[in-house]
Amino acid sequence: MPSVRQSVTPRTTGEASSGGQEAAAPRRRSTQASGRTRVIAVANQKGGVGKTTTAVNVAAALAELGTSVLLIDADPQGNASTALGIDHHADVVGTYDVLTDAAPLESAVVECADVPGLWCCPATVDLAGAEIELVSMGGRESQMRRAVEELVGSGRESKTSFEVVLLDCPPSLGLITVNALTAAREVLVPIQCEYYALEGVTQLLRSIALVRERYNDDLHVSAMVLTMFDGRTRLSSQVAEEVRAHFPEQVFDQTIPRSVRVSEAPSHGQTVMTYDPTSSGALAYRAVAAELLERRPA
Ligand SMILES: Nc1ncnc2c1ncn2[C@@H]1O[C@H](COP(=O)(O)OP(=O)(O)O)[C@@H](O)[C@H]1O
Ligand SMILES: [Mg+2]
Repeated sequence: MPSVRQSVTPRTTGEASSGGQEAAAPRRRSTQASGRTRVIAVANQKGGVGKTTTAVNVAAALAELGTSVLLIDADPQGNASTALGIDHHADVVGTYDVLTDAAPLESAVVECADVPGLWCCPATVDLAGAEIELVSMGGRESQMRRAVEELVGSGRESKTSFEVVLLDCPPSLGLITVNALTAAREVLVPIQCEYYALEGVTQLLRSIALVRERYNDDLHVSAMVLTMFDGRTRLSSQVAEEVRAHFPEQVFDQTIPRSVRVSEAPSHGQTVMTYDPTSSGALAYRAVAAELLERRPA
């Protein structure tokens, strides 16, 4: 299938030297161990908890802070692509092609028009079929990891130098999510401030442990972000308290408020960072992005 758009090459962001750590790094973790690119899966198998909203807004906020970011839309719904105003109709080269070896990741990435420094690998409808197609492929859980490593690669010859790669996962623990978790070193878990917030988190953690054991020994949950927090209700505060009690290390200080501006932005093909830069949601996501940079893993 011909591509409808030319391939683009991400801008070089200058000296992202690995300081010679690559040679000493274990082969399995060469990409992340270089200390150059953080690969973060935004995951929670529950739908509607704010994964996509968090992925796109954190990505935009990071780019605003001068960080070069790639957001890989790994959800067949393509909501992240929509929110970034990135074309993702059926003929576009995207995550499906990357997962099925039809195209290298570099040929699928496009820069977001509104946010310089933010790139996206879009998800098209055929990504839904990838779950099935991957089953018969050898190394099926490592397809994304290979693609990401090839892109950010050794850092020697690559023209690209993304400092952060975010993967927006679908609401399931299927093969696409397993691919994202195998490619990542960190997991960011958005948790909606509502009843049963922690329901399913145990299952997610079990899956993460399984992926760590089998495919990716460095994987860890580095961030939990409380989303749709409503300061006027006792429920939000109670949930936040409970989640913090369970995961004192991982839960970010900054919470994301429930905000109409946040939910409106995608329908304008924008993140809240550009749609309403001074809104409470934009300020909160900016603070989360700053916290993410501060909490850089060792
Ligand atoms: N902080 C927020 N305030 C208001 N609405 C939000 C907020 N975060 C997410 N939403 C809305 O909640 C719904 C689910 O969010 P989304 O990010 O798509 O979740 P997921 O990717 O986990 O399925 C969307 O309609 C989104 O606009
Ligand atoms: Mg989503």
